[in-house]
Amino acid sequence: MSEKTLSETTIPDHSADATPTPEALNAAAPVTEPATVPVATIATLGQYEGQSVVLKGWLYNLRESGKLLFPIFRDGTGTVQGVAHVKSVSPTVFDSLKGLTQESSVIVTGKVRADKRAPGGFELDVEDIQVVQRVPESDPYPITLKEHGVEFLMEHRHLWVRSPRQSAILRIRAEIMRAAAEYFDNHGFIRTDPPILTPAACEGTSTLFPVDYFGDPAYLTQSGQLYIESTALALGKVYSFGPTFRAEKSKTRRHLTEFWMVEPEVAYCDLDGLLELAENYLSHIVQSVLKNRGPELAVIGRDRAKLESIVPPFPRLRYDEAAAMLNDAHKKGLLENPFKYGDDFGSPDETWLSSQFDRPVMVHRYPADVKAFYMEPDPVDPKFALCVDVLAPEGYGEVIGGSQRVSSYELLNARIEEHGLPKEAFQWYLDLRRYGSVPHAGFGMGIERVVAWVCGLDHVRETIPFARTLHRIYP
Ligand code: 4AD
Ligand code: MG
Repeated sequence: MSEKTLSETTIPDHSADATPTPEALNAAAPVTEPATVPVATIATLGQYEGQSVVLKGWLYNLRESGKLLFPIFRDGTGTVQGVAHVKSVSPTVFDSLKGLTQESSVIVTGKVRADKRAPGGFELDVEDIQVVQRVPESDPYPITLKEHGVEFLMEHRHLWVRSPRQSAILRIRAEIMRAAAEYFDNHGFIRTDPPILTPAACEGTSTLFPVDYFGDPAYLTQSGQLYIESTALALGKVYSFGPTFRAEKSKTRRHLTEFWMVEPEVAYCDLDGLLELAENYLSHIVQSVLKNRGPELAVIGRDRAKLESIVPPFPRLRYDEAAAMLNDAHKKGLLENPFKYGDDFGSPDETWLSSQFDRPVMVHRYPADVKAFYMEPDPVDPKFALCVDVLAPEGYGEVIGGSQRVSSYELLNARIEEHGLPKEAFQWYLDLRRYGSVPHAGFGMGIERVVAWVCGLDHVRETIPFARTLHRIYP
């Protein structure tokens, strides 16, 4: 940009005839006070075109070209380029901005100017700046604008979250969580929070995190399911939403040791009802992100068309049909390893299956042997369980796992024995089959898996503010 453009950008002050903002109205209330400049955020700059505003944020980057300074500010809602010419600002302002270090915290006053070329559509003509904390040259911000390795970035995750891309991902995550709760709240589900400290396993004994509970063994919860089966029989339709833990020794791009799960549980619901709930639910979440997080999807460069197709109905496949597809793919050389009928799907199998559809595919009726102890057998053929895994498209794999639950006392009791689970710890769970047992069903959706898919990320470590993985618990 030349000096000439700066003078071209000086536009007449229309603030008098613009609709006053709520902030401006508040500021105008005590008539004797001088009019104050409204505090704005970068995301809402469009409401202040032609007016002076105050932004509270940080210096993301600074380009200098002689008498012109082009600072880029960020405030958590976005970034905006500022312009300061030596002749348009006071010498103090010019000097505090010149040479200012990356990530110094600043309070900036400037006039909002529309600029079609600017990423957010606006630029800021700097009028005043207050440096809240200047990052010293001797100890500069470690994450420069050049490329860094993932290990370095994860080691500096407490700072990395400030980058526009990481902030956009966290904003999309928040929208996914908001929409995830909204759907249930609007459809008659009551949120009931299961405990995090538990006396027994829900999802297999090999991935429990032990805790010393005043001398007794306890574990961090793997899933709230067993507890919300209880609240579902009390309240009808319930959900839980909280952190869950798996001491999983797997180092894949899909596994965290601490992750957030949202789980609905519905009394008098069968597998068909559950499939319908799952497809409506996931569609609502994805459509909400498209509607409310457009700018963030643009920042991370996500292809919207891939998300626009996420509407019900989703394709449904029996385990048998999925297994046949995998075998066929292996024969054609599209899948490296042969699939052994009767096994659960491995990561490469899920990746391949979920790449075959433009929306999530619901694989149901897995062999009961490879699934959890609480799953209801299919009355048509009890070798199979009335369960479902929902595999997200583009190779993202399982985002939802759920089932109809065993409703017979005798069968559940036998299953607990077969699986070598501690009987005393499950007496309360068996009570749910002793007193007014009904068919019921539910699923669990991993928030981070959904964020990875919706954002098109190749690893779950970027989907949560501070990822906990096999080899990382810092910062
Ligand atoms: O399939 P999972 O293990 O199912 C359960 O825990 C059931 N008790 C849920 C229920 O029926 N209420 O886990 C559910 C989902 C998975 O589909 C996946 O999205 C996510 O939780 N998940 C993980 N996400 C990240 N890291 C891990 N280690 C995960 N394990 C499961
Ligand atoms: Mg599962």
